[in-house]
Amino acid sequence: MSIYNQQTKLTIGLFGFGVVGESLYKVLACTPTLNAQIKKVCIRHPHKKRNAPADLFTTDVALLLTDPEINVIIELIDDPVAAYYIVTTALSGGKAVVSANKKLIAENMQELIALQQQYNVPFLYEAACCASIPVIRNLEEYYDNELLQGISGIVNGSTNYILTKVTEERTSFITALQQAQTEGFAESDPSLDVNGIDAVNKLSILLTHAYGIIASPSDLLHTGIQNLDENDARFAAEKGYSIKLVATACKLQDGTIAAFVLPQFVGKTSQLATVRNEYNGVVIESSLADQQFFYGKGAGGFPTASAVLSDLSALHYNYRYEYKKLNYQQPASLSGDFYLKVCIRFKSIHQVPHKKFDIILGWSSNSHHCHVTGIIRFSNLAEGYWWKQPGVSVILYPGGIIDNYQAQNDHDDEYYDFVEQLAEVE
Ligand code: HSE
Repeated sequence: MSIYNQQTKLTIGLFGFGVVGESLYKVLACTPTLNAQIKKVCIRHPHKKRNAPADLFTTDVALLLTDPEINVIIELIDDPVAAYYIVTTALSGGKAVVSANKKLIAENMQELIALQQQYNVPFLYEAACCASIPVIRNLEEYYDNELLQGISGIVNGSTNYILTKVTEERTSFITALQQAQTEGFAESDPSLDVNGIDAVNKLSILLTHAYGIIASPSDLLHTGIQNLDENDARFAAEKGYSIKLVATACKLQDGTIAAFVLPQFVGKTSQLATVRNEYNGVVIESSLADQQFFYGKGAGGFPTASAVLSDLSALHYNYRYEYKKLNYQQPASLSGDFYLKVCIRFKSIHQVPHKKFDIILGWSSNSHHCHVTGIIRFSNLAEGYWWKQPGVSVILYPGGIIDNYQAQNDHDDEYYDFVEQLAEVE
């Protein structure tokens, strides 16, 4: 079946009964008006205790994918290889698919779009970006024009939770991470959260719906909060900032797009400063409307289930993503030709690759670390890994994307001061 309408009964095959799957099951049980019912749930561990009747469960993947009565597959598992098989088989079999699997979607966007077109089936994934915040559908429908200037968002709930707990409550990093896992915010492999991979997967999806760009997440510059430490927190606090992990996509003057995930200093008056714990927040810049701010829970069972529920409801009116920026407009392209104003912390002054900076605007050093603030060419970060080494952290300044910076041949006084100091200690 490929045409769905208000009368269509949605008979669901659900893959996964973790935090989100179970929440969805509970929500559907008390939403009879949706005309949607879970027929079978496919799970990997049959002996685990489940809060649902035993005859609902199976481990037989094919049972769901080949059942002609099942017209919707909901995929809520965290194994990307199995998810790829489930989603592609379901779409090829003419079943609608709803998924929350950002990694799967980001890494296979081109193929998944082609399958939707080839088999004329809906594939919806609002839950994959910012859980309860309807950001994808807004980018598709409301911002279906040229006015979108930029997106700047806290899109990973776990790292935001950790940063909040560590900086506001002095919780240790490891305890905060364990709490994020217990609450069901973190990925099964939490390094995906901590290292910024989950955030860059979401950025990749947002780029498609915002600008028609299909970019592999591994090609987008990203890092997480893995190298931040108390020195960075102190540095930020002294300057009146907090630190957030932010996914950014921003239109440059020539129409190309700057896109990356980096920790960022956030001023007290920024809306992003108000986003705490597992909440997400997305600031959208539009050339007419100025700034708009979307805020909501970005992780957890019920917030994610709410987005899945909205996708199910959308199936009733045969909603599909049209990929408007890709199909009806001139897709934008990514740029590597811009500059960033950053603060980079090194273990010592000797470690600083000062020639990588176009300008050093300020620096401070003691026996434990050295903070350097400067302007650096984006490609100098994109091409190297020196800034991802343990003991080095990179934090973007507010408004730190510099489009038209005129690189100078002559360095300024701070630069020579730095080089002099370096010579003295060497
Ligand atoms: N691990 C993800 C997060 C879950 O913390 O945001 C929601 O995508």
